[in-house]
Amino acid sequence: MKAIAAPALVEIELPKPSPSGRDLLVKVEAVSVNPVDTKRRPEASDAQPRVLGWDAAGTVEAAGPQATLFKAGDEVYYAGDVTRPGCNSEFHLVDERIVGAKPKKLDFAQAAAMPLTAITAWEAFFDRLKVQPDKSMLIIGGAGGVGSIGIQFAKMARLTVIATASREESAAWAKTMGADHVVDHREPLRPQVEALGMKHVNYIACFNDLDQHWAAIGDLIAPQGAIVAIVGNRNPLPQDAVRAKSAALCWELMFTRARFQTPDMIEQHRLLDRVADWLDAGRLRGTLRETLSPINAANLRAAHARLEAGTMIGKLVLSGWS
Ligand SMILES: NC(=O)c1ccc[n+]([C@@H]2O[C@H](COP(=O)([O-])OP(=O)(O)OC[C@H]3O[C@@H](n4cnc5c(N)ncnc54)[C@H](OP(=O)(O)O)[C@@H]3O)[C@@H](O)[C@H]2O)c1
Repeated sequence: MKAIAAPALVEIELPKPSPSGRDLLVKVEAVSVNPVDTKRRPEASDAQPRVLGWDAAGTVEAAGPQATLFKAGDEVYYAGDVTRPGCNSEFHLVDERIVGAKPKKLDFAQAAAMPLTAITAWEAFFDRLKVQPDKSMLIIGGAGGVGSIGIQFAKMARLTVIATASREESAAWAKTMGADHVVDHREPLRPQVEALGMKHVNYIACFNDLDQHWAAIGDLIAPQGAIVAIVGNRNPLPQDAVRAKSAALCWELMFTRARFQTPDMIEQHRLLDRVADWLDAGRLRGTLRETLSPINAANLRAAHARLEAGTMIGKLVLSGWS
């Protein structure tokens, strides 16, 4: 089968795998790209090439002997497990407990845009922050992949949402996703939040550059509020401001459940099924903005370059093998 391997992102031939245990063998129809791809790419070498890609939609070709949730012919979407080979290949193995049934009304490209970011934002808000309705949330990085679905989940949870975006185009997109207010993360945040009539916010979701925004986060979080971060810090984070406010800081890594094979990893199957139902019912909007076709090395390299520019709005997907 065809596959695209890091570090150089070149096309290679690999044997078609066969599923064991609870794995599904998926015929991959579309893949999305995420910052995890560009971050992991340099870890590969010519001596140890690696297939990246952790967002896919496709059709189950075969199911392992212990699989019970899916069968051959089912259309699925999923992010996968970063400790295993990624989905930038014609066929791919994935544990069925982290796979959802593809939204019926979305095509493969639209579906592939969703899983990684939806799992991240869902777990951040509902499993880590355990958000309560009628409170306020600041989402830093509102127009990116995670922010685009995160804004929608926050509105479904009946929060007042202030999203950050620094350009006219990204600000407009964040509004389209449902943000009540948009502020600019390249300008001081406090005066912009105060201009909206708020002194503090109950929740802060940091979906970009935690180091840059940490001081503003400590300043803006409400006493007894809660912060979730999905990006790591490069430098130590002074705790005085958040400690004085008894604010909680939670981390969210969407690969944790798969990586540690937690007993509740099937929750990702359930949440992807719920998200698919809501997409089909029109309660959520898809976040796909652009599709490159076919899935090949040149298009994958172009997609990585786009992500590395840091100006993505919504999601970029590669669709169909040539
Ligand atoms: N922990 C996890 O499980 C997990 C999961 C997914 C992603 N992540 C991480 O979360 C981050 C965001 O992922 P993503 O997929 O949403 O990325 P993305 O789609 O590439 O994000 C692009 C957006 O980031 C905004 N942005 C750029 N610089 C910013 C800054 N300094 N402050 C605030 N916003 C900024 C841009 O807005 P403007 O153009 O308006 O400036 C752009 O819309 C990445 O670091 C990724 O690795 C972690």
